[in-house]
Amino acid sequence: MLTAEMLKSMANVEKTRSARMNVTPARMSAEEKDTLLQEYHPDYRQSGFTVLSVGPNKGSKVPTELAELLQANSRIKSDEIDLDRIDYDVDVLIIGGGGAGTSAAIEADKAGAKVLLVTKLKMGEANTMMAEGGIQAADKENDSPAIHYLDALGGGHYSNKPELLKRLVHDGPLAIKWLNDLGVMFDKDEKGVMVTTHGGGTSRKRMHAAADYTGAEIMRVLRDEAVNRGITTIDYAPAIELILDENGKAAGAVLMNYDTGEYLVAKGKTVIIATGGAGRLHYQGFPTSNHYGATADGLVLGYRVGAELIYADAIQYHPTGVAYPAQIFGALVTEKVRSLGAMLINSEGEAFMHPLETRDVAAASIIRECTTRGKGVPALDGSAVWLDTPMIEMIHGAGTIEKRLPGMLRMYGKFGIDLRKEPILVYPTLHYQNGGILINEQAGTKIENLFVAGEAVGGIHGTNRLMGNSLLDIIVFGRIAGKSAAQKSKETQLGKLTLSHIDKFQAELAAAGIHTDKVSPLLLPTYTHGRKVR
Ligand code: FUM
Repeated sequence: MLTAEMLKSMANVEKTRSARMNVTPARMSAEEKDTLLQEYHPDYRQSGFTVLSVGPNKGSKVPTELAELLQANSRIKSDEIDLDRIDYDVDVLIIGGGGAGTSAAIEADKAGAKVLLVTKLKMGEANTMMAEGGIQAADKENDSPAIHYLDALGGGHYSNKPELLKRLVHDGPLAIKWLNDLGVMFDKDEKGVMVTTHGGGTSRKRMHAAADYTGAEIMRVLRDEAVNRGITTIDYAPAIELILDENGKAAGAVLMNYDTGEYLVAKGKTVIIATGGAGRLHYQGFPTSNHYGATADGLVLGYRVGAELIYADAIQYHPTGVAYPAQIFGALVTEKVRSLGAMLINSEGEAFMHPLETRDVAAASIIRECTTRGKGVPALDGSAVWLDTPMIEMIHGAGTIEKRLPGMLRMYGKFGIDLRKEPILVYPTLHYQNGGILINEQAGTKIENLFVAGEAVGGIHGTNRLMGNSLLDIIVFGRIAGKSAAQKSKETQLGKLTLSHIDKFQAELAAAGIHTDKVSPLLLPTYTHGRKVR
């Protein structure tokens, strides 16, 4: 139940609503944003980070929870696995069954490769499924990939890898067409034209959506396509270690059968990591909007064989996570709510920022309101601010929320909150890893025959991704990874398989004085109700 204090400040929001309708707060200057980020964004809290002592990024800082996994022991000993006993032998081994892995599988299959997709949960159980607000692509007359490039570059603090960002925006319209042709039900007007909206930091309306369950709709279609193509998939079989060949090429992975604990050897002429994000590591104690399986496994697998990370210290806290009620604490309140006009309001009923600042700026601004400014609303875990959702129907007319935000309406409705009539309480939630494994334009890494796609990649978005650019990157780079890996597999003869990198890494740990009983990849979050993952 809302407390008396919440109700009192909700009354302030209602009191100022009509006066706020025509006055949007000004955008912050670049200097204001920089100062705000340095003082309030969690990426600047040095206490949340650890400097790596081993591996290709030795000397760089990463979130402490990630460092512990990157510098942990393998789940296996190098001589424990009989690499002459091959259980699966394929051209392209894909680790991860979300949007990126499945897109890669479709393209690799189309290119004639023998594909095996392994997932630690089930195909589709991934962050893609949780994506709500939309997918960006510059396919309208007043837009262009060049404008999309500039928006994403500004949002990413000019640190995006230019060649990756160029590929992303250039292939955007093609990605939408590909998805539309496969059967994704994008929102369209009565003439069949795609309906598009703004996101934080966009100068054009280029967010294509399927209501507020865009990711689920995309995943539905990708999964159907993979199943229809007969692509071989193994569920509940996480990759726990990559296998290289004697020449250092990626050559497969050791899988673990969750049910039996048995290890399996999957040999692949090429390997694609598409394991997604890390929200379930709960950096700095934040709640998360992420899927249950988001535990940074791909970063660990790649790092241990020598793949380089980029911007692994740049984390995205989505400004609007649910701060009340407790049952959905940390869940995503899509940015589309703000795209449709809802403002962020403090306890006194003041709109304290432009609703469509980029995510890092918006998150930092909310944290400032709730800390030094003392204008947060006491909520479940600390304090929160209001997101004034009733503004949406005042702007766009009755029925808009039901039509454009049915998922949000249902999610809150279950707890007796009607967001058409009352504002909701929000606070930043851990949403996305901006960084990850460094790739080139072909989705390749510095380890030959190892490709990466999706949230496990770093560099595309710089240090801060804009809304809707990750659904785009899983499609663009998922497809590229699938095509590149299929092509490379045709030219590849593997040498003898080995797990000697485990010993090398172990020696590095010992030399750095790191003695830990932790093993990685983690596979499932630590709160698995006492169930022990081997
Ligand atoms: O707010 C959202 O709907 C999230 C979208 C995204 O992360 O791209």
